[in-house]
Amino acid sequence: MCGIVGAVAERNVVAILLAGLQRLAYRGYDSAGLAVSGEALERRRVEGKVERLAELLAERPLRGQTGIAHTRWATHGVPSKNNAHPHWSEGDIALVHNGIIENHEALRQSLSEQGYVFNSDTDTEVIVHLIHRYYQQTQDLLSAVQESLKDLEGAYALAIICRQEPERLIAARRGSPLVLGLGIDEHFIASDASALLPVTQRFIYLEEGDVVAMQRQQADIYDADGKRVEREVHTSELQADAVERGEYRHYMLKEIFEQPSALAATLEGRLQGQCIDPDLLGEGSAELLKGIKAVQIVACGTSYYAGLVASYWLESLAHIPCHVEVASEFRYREPLASPDTLFITISQSGETADTLAALEYAKTLGFDNTLSICNVAESALVRASDWALMTHAGPEIGVASTKAFTTQLLVLLLLSTVVGRLQGRLSADKETDIVQALRKLPHDCERMLEQHQAVTELAQTFADKQNALFLGRGVHYPIAKEGALKLKEISYIHAEAYPAGELKHGPLALIDADMPVVAVAPNDHLQEKLKSNLQEVQARGGQLLIFTDHKASMPSSDYVTVIEVGAVNNISSPILYTLPLQLLAYEAALIKGTDVDQPRNLAKAVTVE
Ligand code: M6R
Repeated sequence: MCGIVGAVAERNVVAILLAGLQRLAYRGYDSAGLAVSGEALERRRVEGKVERLAELLAERPLRGQTGIAHTRWATHGVPSKNNAHPHWSEGDIALVHNGIIENHEALRQSLSEQGYVFNSDTDTEVIVHLIHRYYQQTQDLLSAVQESLKDLEGAYALAIICRQEPERLIAARRGSPLVLGLGIDEHFIASDASALLPVTQRFIYLEEGDVVAMQRQQADIYDADGKRVEREVHTSELQADAVERGEYRHYMLKEIFEQPSALAATLEGRLQGQCIDPDLLGEGSAELLKGIKAVQIVACGTSYYAGLVASYWLESLAHIPCHVEVASEFRYREPLASPDTLFITISQSGETADTLAALEYAKTLGFDNTLSICNVAESALVRASDWALMTHAGPEIGVASTKAFTTQLLVLLLLSTVVGRLQGRLSADKETDIVQALRKLPHDCERMLEQHQAVTELAQTFADKQNALFLGRGVHYPIAKEGALKLKEISYIHAEAYPAGELKHGPLALIDADMPVVAVAPNDHLQEKLKSNLQEVQARGGQLLIFTDHKASMPSSDYVTVIEVGAVNNISSPILYTLPLQLLAYEAALIKGTDVDQPRNLAKAVTVE
């Protein structure tokens, strides 16, 4: 969470910093600020979004050739101007931070005793005073920062400037991402490369413990031991407009409609005629996949639901036992590891703190083969895993995950099929059927998206509602969960999902005219069972909204609205049925008037525990 941008250039960097913050706003958006160094340090901070900072800067402009900026997602201290970054010490050192300093209380006490006055409730403020204290001894910003880092426990990405060294910016990372952008006689730093695309496409992804000393013409990187190191330079193929909203009203809508192309890009190069490339994870991976006896999946939020869907596929197609768990639970219990279990993490960002910690924990437990399914190639999760299976969804900016989820499902289906084939448990004919369904998938998604108007009308049901139930059975139960999460996340309507067979074990008591029930009802072997469950709802005056195939013969009536999504292949139906649920959440949020792309209290990448 929190977005950081910094720059050292010959030109005025304020516009670059502001544009960078706007591109990072998905990381946190409760307050924002910017500081520049010159003869004096100057800063502007606001409570609220980056747009307010832009307004303030229009009223009270700043100029500078070295600067840092921040958009915040509050952890310690409420969202307020006082708690907004940059924080500073004695007007000499200014700093922005992403992460959490765990020993901040002890440091605060010790620094207070030494006379430092704290002006915020943040954990961050201790770092800036600490650096100031060391600066008194070293008179050198780089060594003051390096000394301070030794005293910190926790996670950080930092960018620091100093009044006495106005042409220098120091940045450091441990546990939170930071990328160095290389320009011509100018250097940049950011939490995410997308922030810097308008100014450079050449990046160095800093490693754990790295500290970088940046000036206009030079950027020196030091590793955790203080040794000067060279790091690989990457050229991004992303265009600056890949993270722009274009003609769409919201990023979320754009990303929903990008799904046909995101799925096609994710499929590219992975099919060989009627088969899937057995070396799906890269050279030599077929050997690994042939030998695995079980799968443990760990993830958070929407990525966790992708894992739940995969457990149905891995068990039915590959006959491999699969256990799925949320990362924040897995990391604090004592799971049993076995060396022939494949440990899979799933994450859009590859930065999620709980998922990263679960992966590190799994390694210590003896999970010897780790695979990450991820959308960001340079992320910490990918780097920390033995194998990676990339989704090619492109940047996802809306806080609500959409195209990342469906592309995760796609690669999990590929993986389940490959494991089934390699282990001799899935026939060649079945693989051919799956490949054919996958080739049609982008087109089938386009057809699904044609339901937009019908879904928009359906969303009116939620105009005066505060609660909703989502039902599904089998592999569509996790899809119902994802539908409920989407709705609650962006419309703030309380929504829960149940396997439809569980209704009469409790939730049926909630059914009345104020509780819309959304059913995911594809034409599969469980449809008749589901229909009986829906009768139970209808008999109790509940309002049913049913997504189903045209063959289902479920007529609309006074309390039943049926949306027929057309014929859908059984194997790809979890992916396809996700789309109308995303649209439903989106349209309900529009009716409720919420902030769709930046819903309250949330941020895109959850880099703190
Ligand atoms: O980047 P990750 O996939 O690891 O993120 C996990 C969750 O934080 C994320 O899926 C979250 O639940 C989304 N906002 C849901 O739309």
